[in-house]
Amino acid sequence: MPFDRAIKIAPSILSADFAAIGAECRAVEEQGADWVHVDVMDGHFVPNLTFGPAMVKAIRPHVRGVMDVHLMIAPVDPYIDAFAEAGADIITAHLEAGPHIHRTLQAIRATGARAGLALNPGTGLDAVSHLLDSIDLVCVMTVNPGFGGQSFIASQVEKVRALRDLIGDRPVHIEIDGGVTPETAPLVAAAGADVLVAGSAVFRGGSVDNPAPYGANIRAIRAAAEAARPRAAA
Ligand code: DX5
Ligand code: ZN
Repeated sequence: MPFDRAIKIAPSILSADFAAIGAECRAVEEQGADWVHVDVMDGHFVPNLTFGPAMVKAIRPHVRGVMDVHLMIAPVDPYIDAFAEAGADIITAHLEAGPHIHRTLQAIRATGARAGLALNPGTGLDAVSHLLDSIDLVCVMTVNPGFGGQSFIASQVEKVRALRDLIGDRPVHIEIDGGVTPETAPLVAAAGADVLVAGSAVFRGGSVDNPAPYGANIRAIRAAAEAARPRAAA
């Protein structure tokens, strides 16, 4: 997985038709998705339940590119090997999910997967500066995790800008998750984000039988983000 800061659109399959999940993954990739974002929720760390490693393993053959697994679970460590064996390319854990995030990130990298660190909207960047050499991605949550279709929290844009400065030349992606649309994507792209997760804004209007809207939605988000990009960041 070579590193670059080009804008990447990562549709969240939380907004897909769960009864056709393999076909949905194939459809969004055919329609231009760069990564496929997989939201794992435990009904404890977040107030919603989705699925576990068996589902991720079932999805894997339907994803040709990067499978980006966002764990909204606590504890995390007992499940890392299972998600890695299921085929996750990136495993992202929340800073808030436990007291030993450094150990968690080490355990993720030990599997061969890339390590992501997710931050809730109320969490600052203090801890991140001590973890920069242990992470491949920071996921800035622009909604409170748990549900798709929520509104973008604008106060997070400043956090993205500060994070971009903190990262400097290190090969660390900045991912935005929550409320990303063609209207909000420029705000975070201008601030330095490169990976944009979008659930409802990608899947709206389409289906596996009519996937063209997925492509139009992806292109609209990408074009809005690229137009707002600081030139040096591309
Ligand atoms: C929220 C999830 C997101 C969610 C985004 O807890 O982590 O990935 O699917 O959905 P939208 O893009 O609809 O805000
Ligand atoms: Zn997510």
